Amino acid sequence: MKILAIETSCDETAVAVLECTGGIDAPRFDVLGNLVLSQADKHAEFGGVYPNLAKREHSENLVPILTQVLKDAQLEVPAGSPTPLPDNLAEVLEREPELFTHLQEYIPHIAKPNIDAIAVTNGPGLEPALWVGVNFARALSAIWDIPIIPTNHMEGHIVSVLIDQDRNNVGSPTLVDDNPSTIQFPALALLVSGGHTQLVKINTWGSYEIIGETRDDAIGEAFDKVARMLDLPYPGGPQIGRLAAEARAAGLESDIKLPRPMVDTDDFDFSYSGLKTAALYAIRDNGTPTDDFKKKMSREFEDAAFDCVIVKTTKALDALGMRDVIVGGGVIASAELRRRLAEISGAHVHLPDMGFTGDNAVMIGAAGYINHLTNTIAPSDALRADGNLRLK
Ligand code: KG4
Ligand code: ZN
Repeated sequence: MKILAIETSCDETAVAVLECTGGIDAPRFDVLGNLVLSQADKHAEFGGVYPNLAKREHSENLVPILTQVLKDAQLEVPAGSPTPLPDNLAEVLEREPELFTHLQEYIPHIAKPNIDAIAVTNGPGLEPALWVGVNFARALSAIWDIPIIPTNHMEGHIVSVLIDQDRNNVGSPTLVDDNPSTIQFPALALLVSGGHTQLVKINTWGSYEIIGETRDDAIGEAFDKVARMLDLPYPGGPQIGRLAAEARAAGLESDIKLPRPMVDTDDFDFSYSGLKTAALYAIRDNGTPTDDFKKKMSREFEDAAFDCVIVKTTKALDALGMRDVIVGGGVIASAELRRRLAEISGAHVHLPDMGFTGDNAVMIGAAGYINHLTNTIAPSDALRADGNLRLK
């Protein structure tokens, strides 16, 4: 089946079209069109994501991105006669006037595309941002009479390991090919992003139990905040990663010692707020940071943050007798985290291709397909955005 996927949970506006085949035992995704527009530059001056700016940017950019993706997927066919707009369109897009204007200009000129379902992220994320994608999906569903598959953003990060067989592995023998038949269930998912730090037991596709999570800040959020303290631009994760790698390459040992919160607790939870505060005090005590200090701090912070991840992941695998770990979320772009996960003895680690670590719509389409195979499709008028949506 062909799925049109929409993702607007944070500061990336993303649309994709996927051909999904193979069923639940051997899902296969062929990407026909895929665009991600990052607003990171626009949010940089606020040092983080500013929800109302994200909402406005999504509203402005969704239709131009959809147009390009439909062209790339060769699904944009001129309408023989103008495609009518449903009477309630203005009502559906009441809070997204820019989107309404763009759709009014675009839709009448193209024929209904050959698409079977629309997958859209309905949570978790920033609610004003999520609503733009949800209302866009509702509008397209009403115009073209195509069903909607509401999709959890975190399930998207989990299934992102299935998207491309052409892996970007770090060359460890414990990293296995991500052919879905090689994933042994129950499996563990480690989710590390700007909004989440979670360990999830995957009973099988579509059935999830959160077994541990952060009690305060998310890991990516902590990276972003510490980067800001060091005057590094947003998003801070890649900046800290770069400086930490430079410190290691130069043999710059760190004399800074940061805590590893909760590594000794018996649960599978995390805490990043204390680590962030310890970094803040160390930075304050040091005075104006030199380049060497920034590198040492980056190295120590990265080591501390990832020690917690590795300890709890290993603990969860041992306690639940699982072999396979699927990792998802923006922080898995880190080469250091990829390397350290590959060293967990006996584990089969499944990593997303580097092109699918950050937010994108392909992963939402893939999760939408899994959802379609395991649940019923919800009617579009009941669809709501939920900023705190939980995996289950
Ligand atoms: O999944 P994602 O794109 O968006 C959310 O759903 O949150 O994750 C973004 C997060 C940001 O906090 C960013 O700083 C972090 O991923 N990140 C990294 C790296 N690359 C991105 N964190 C540490 N090291 C990296 N190399
Ligand atoms: Zn994400």
